[in-house]
Amino acid sequence: MCGIVGYIGKRDAYPILIEGLSALEYRGYDSAGIALVHGKGFSIFKDKGKVDHLKEITKKISAGGCGTGIAHTRWATHGAPSQMNAHPHLDQSSKIAVVHNGIIENFSLLKQKMIKDGVKFCSETDSEVLAQLIGKYYNGDLASAVRRALQDIEGTFGIAVVAADNPGVLIGARRGSPLVVGVGEDELFLASDASAIVRHTKKVIYLKDNNMIELMQGTFNTTTIDNKKVNPEIQNIDWDADSLAKGGFNHFMLKEIFEQPETIQNAIRGRLLVDEGAARLDGLNLVLQELRSIQRLIFVACGTSWHAALVGKYMIEDMAGIPVEVEYASEFRYRNPIIGPNTLVFVISQSGETADTLAALREAAHKGATVLGICNVVGSSIARETHGGVYLHAGPEIGVASTKAFTSQLTVLSLLTLLLGRMRRISHSDGVTVARALEAIPKQVQKILKQNNHIEEIAKTYAKHNNFLYLGRSYNFPVALEGALKLKEISYVHAEGYPAAEMKHGPIALIDKDMPSVVLAIKDSIYDKVISNIQEVNARGGSVIAIANEGDKEIEKYVKHVVYIPKTIPMLSPLLSVIPLQLLAYHIAAIRGCEIDQPRNLAKSVTVE
Ligand code: F6R
Repeated sequence: MCGIVGYIGKRDAYPILIEGLSALEYRGYDSAGIALVHGKGFSIFKDKGKVDHLKEITKKISAGGCGTGIAHTRWATHGAPSQMNAHPHLDQSSKIAVVHNGIIENFSLLKQKMIKDGVKFCSETDSEVLAQLIGKYYNGDLASAVRRALQDIEGTFGIAVVAADNPGVLIGARRGSPLVVGVGEDELFLASDASAIVRHTKKVIYLKDNNMIELMQGTFNTTTIDNKKVNPEIQNIDWDADSLAKGGFNHFMLKEIFEQPETIQNAIRGRLLVDEGAARLDGLNLVLQELRSIQRLIFVACGTSWHAALVGKYMIEDMAGIPVEVEYASEFRYRNPIIGPNTLVFVISQSGETADTLAALREAAHKGATVLGICNVVGSSIARETHGGVYLHAGPEIGVASTKAFTSQLTVLSLLTLLLGRMRRISHSDGVTVARALEAIPKQVQKILKQNNHIEEIAKTYAKHNNFLYLGRSYNFPVALEGALKLKEISYVHAEGYPAAEMKHGPIALIDKDMPSVVLAIKDSIYDKVISNIQEVNARGGSVIAIANEGDKEIEKYVKHVVYIPKTIPMLSPLLSVIPLQLLAYHIAAIRGCEIDQPRNLAKSVTVE
């Protein structure tokens, strides 16, 4: 949450910072601000609202001459979204400007102490404490002042700091919040993630936790916060700025839904061994013997990634016969979990920066577990701190509602199922069946996407309803949860996902003509039971939108609307059945006029608890 950009170089900092903020806006969009250093002070602009508003209020400024600056887009934690609480924050004598992502846990104590010493605060934020502390310690050497201030701080931070009297230096530091440094020709960049700087350079340094970087004109110095020399690795970004554009779609979410045939293919590429009916996942860094000796798996994740983990549990228990537990990271990290021998922990995260998932990873590692990651963002904290793992290769996901990352997670989990299953229960011929079915998925997704207009028509019928039930069984129960989450987060419509048979233990009381049910009625071994559940809804006057398999004409007798999806094996059906639910949520939100890519109160990367 919160996006940070910094620039130091020969060009005007203003347009680079503003453009960088726009790319980071998915991280938070309550308020935005910018500080430019012109040697004898700062030019500061900040206000409540989005980056476009900041652009509006700054369009008349003369940017010429300021080659150093920092900027921020905020997701409020301490203090409501307002001009006063927007970053950058200054110390009381306006010598120092700071932008901060994270939470300073001891800010209240520090603030009271400083108020007693006569320091005047002008915001409600925890971040201002940091600006005041750095200001207190600053005597011309910015790196030393930041280092000293960070010793007083408890909590998490990714920061960029500048001094009014020295345009020749920009400091970045991190603990628990991501920071990436862009290395250009005679210019350096700092950002919460690479999307803010990829237009300018593809050479980056992913700053490690507890590290600090001093950026000067054309050169930099990396140390730990307690001042031990660090030799950072410069890496190359393997995607380009084009993947950040909407490409003709109205929203990033829709673009990302339509990218899924390609992103699923990217997750499969080089990993699926069709003729052997197997998979290779070299990044796990485990030898055959280690893989064979696994007796239990724990999947830890949040939100949509947790739903993917639940599908993974059904796949692996069913096909590989290994018991799997699925944990919410926020619960796992605090509840003293038992991690026995021969247990492998997987943390699943699109961003690789989710605070609870990262803390759960550390807890599991502390207890001696081997922890592996399934991540999308290369070089993210989770990717770096795990013992090994698998990247999704889905490209940047900008829409706050996760779509393509979910299907890529499911793809990787099916590959993992094949890998582990072939050592146990899956025969060669069954392995080939699974591999062929997985190979066919991208084209099948393409086919479902062609029904976009039909799904939009269904959305028109139901866009005014305020309550929805999503029902599924077996592999499609987690899909029901995911469908309901997609709808509620982008359209603000109340939706609940349930195992279809659980409906009669409570939620059935809600059903009437105003509460439609979206039912995943896939032809599998319990299809008939799902039909019975549909009839239970009908008997109470509810209407049903079914997701069913092509050729299932019978279902039309029982439901108001059907979206047909191609047939696949049961374990892969979530990869197809979720697509209509993503589109349904998208169209309902669009008809209701919601801000689809930046829903209220949400942020893409949840780097606070
Ligand atoms: C929902 C959504 C969130 C994330 C969750 C975990 O559309 O995107 O529920 O799935 O915040 O994020 P990651 O996967 O980045 O750890």
